[in-house]
Amino acid sequence: MRNKERLAVLGAGHVGPVIARLAIAAGYPVAIATSGDPDDIALITELVIPGAQPRWASDAVADADIVVLAIPLHRLTDVDPALLAGKIVVDAMNYWPASDGVLTAFEDDSGSANSRGSSEIVARRLAGSAVVKALNHIGYHELEDRARPAGAPDRRAVGVAGDDPVAVAAIAGLVDRVGYDPVRLENLRAGRVLEPGGPVFGSVLTLPEFEQAMREDARSLT
Ligand SMILES: NC(=O)c1ccc[n+]([C@@H]2O[C@H](COP(=O)([O-])OP(=O)(O)OC[C@H]3O[C@@H](n4cnc5c(N)ncnc54)[C@H](OP(=O)(O)O)[C@@H]3O)[C@@H](O)[C@H]2O)c1
Repeated sequence: MRNKERLAVLGAGHVGPVIARLAIAAGYPVAIATSGDPDDIALITELVIPGAQPRWASDAVADADIVVLAIPLHRLTDVDPALLAGKIVVDAMNYWPASDGVLTAFEDDSGSANSRGSSEIVARRLAGSAVVKALNHIGYHELEDRARPAGAPDRRAVGVAGDDPVAVAAIAGLVDRVGYDPVRLENLRAGRVLEPGGPVFGSVLTLPEFEQAMREDARSLT
């Protein structure tokens, strides 16, 4: 069965192609883009993401229902928010000063109990989009290797955090179809548990393990 939503994956580095492959296997039409000419990734896309369409980012986004941001966070300023307006945007990015450098906007309030999550800051920049944090907290190798169909005994969980219930439902559906039990968090703010330093970041947990880890972390409660 062909799913309705069309995906544009921005980023063809480590995690973008994995998300694209998983989505194609789940029946989503997928376009993939870098910041450059799609001809530059045409051959590699054919080889490693068969079925994905390499496109200019603007064209991929224009035709997409769901846009997956799989780019380094410091490159977000290159993306025109107007291009993403009206789209469901999956923020698969992490704030990683070691590779992104220190980004002032993402350092605000850091360390305090009320510090904002990186996706809240992304959402403020992309005010016309419905931003959902997901697919950011599992390494790209494992994200592909651990995907399992619904009901598999060793299926793992992926957190989904957003403020727009329709967008969250769409991304929970995507997560489920690509091979993970979606865990819907209260809101985008609660998605802080999914970030580096959070209780589920870098772990590939079953649903009960995931829920337990969240219960033990105050960030999911505020
Ligand atoms: N690596 C992982 O295991 C993993 C897992 C989950 C989440 N993440 C997060 O996902 C993000 C990407 O990580 P990565 O390891 O995949 O990075 P990466 O290997 O460095 O790849 C980044 C990709 O983004 C593209 N890009 C940069 N600016 C762009 C723009 N404005 N529009 C479209 N494409 C653009 C780059 O191509 P050009 O420079 O040619 O444009 C490149 O293909 C990071 O925020 C990371 O924290 C990573």
